[in-house]
Amino acid sequence: MVNLAVRIGKITMKNPITVGSGCFSLDYEALYSPDILGAYVPKTIRAYPWPGNPPPRITETPSGVLSSVGIPSKGWAKFLEEDVPALKALKTPVILSVVGRTEEEYAEIVEFADGLGFLAGIELNLSCPNVKAGGLQFGADSKMAYDVVARCRKKTDLTLIPKLPPDPSHIVEVARAVEAAGADAIAMINSPKAMLIDIETKKPFLGNVIGALSGPAIRPMAVAFVYQVYEQVGIPIIGMGGVTTVRDVIEFLLAGAQAVALGVVNFFDPLAVPRILDGLQKYLEEKGIEDVNSLVGAAHSF
Ligand SMILES: Cc1cc2nc3c(=O)[nH]c(=O)nc-3n(C[C@H](O)[C@H](O)[C@H](O)COP(=O)(O)O)c2cc1C
Repeated sequence: MVNLAVRIGKITMKNPITVGSGCFSLDYEALYSPDILGAYVPKTIRAYPWPGNPPPRITETPSGVLSSVGIPSKGWAKFLEEDVPALKALKTPVILSVVGRTEEEYAEIVEFADGLGFLAGIELNLSCPNVKAGGLQFGADSKMAYDVVARCRKKTDLTLIPKLPPDPSHIVEVARAVEAAGADAIAMINSPKAMLIDIETKKPFLGNVIGALSGPAIRPMAVAFVYQVYEQVGIPIIGMGGVTTVRDVIEFLLAGAQAVALGVVNFFDPLAVPRILDGLQKYLEEKGIEDVNSLVGAAHSF
């Protein structure tokens, strides 16, 4: 028997596979039960209704998806009414992804989330601009990241998982700051900034001008960030960025991720989760590896 179970803070995941926020929904239930996931992360939610960014919001690029959706949100009241019953019925841990425009808004939604009573964890999407700091992303500055995580930490004992933007100059420093502020784990990476220009109209393609890139194009960059952060923090990492195969999952584990999230692969291969889970089990059996945890960080000991 192979052990696939991993620990992320206080959460026991029955396997290391989860999903990237915004890249999966419970509609996949038509194909397979989302309960096969080690944990489920829904689309990021705000406390208040928010329309999101103007269209176009998403398009394909070679080896990637360019998007700028802007986290449209129905707000907390509708979330409670429309989404919570189905989330509560899941038999796998639910990690709710939340966001705010200010520290106060993060703290408020974390307090709401904590009060739900059924969540296993809370992911803080730190790729949002701080409206009180000239629009700088919370996760791009170690002091801002520390402050917002420390403030949210006071509102919950649930497993708290800041999700970091891929800022090459600051990601290691920010990872250390969120650990010092009391984070239980780190999710990384959110999509790096990117854009496309329509050469016929001579205008930026996306309604929001600058968007973010997901998919295979960003995977080696994400692996490098996970590798670097693993060497500097003692808390578990949920790695993501461009995973499409079992091989990619194993690469993230070897770099130091304890769990791995599947993002846009779900868009072009709706059966990616069961395919990769099955492949992971087979890989471990074929290699005679009894515990998936033995792969975590193994690329550091060469
Ligand atoms: C259309 C779309 C929507 C996304 N929405 C969110 C979101 O609401 N919250 C979040 O933290 N990340 C969001 N992401 C980022 C993904 O969760 C993930 O971090 C990123 O896409 C990298 O992984 P991937 O290359 O496997 O997709 C979104 C990505 C896409 C493409």
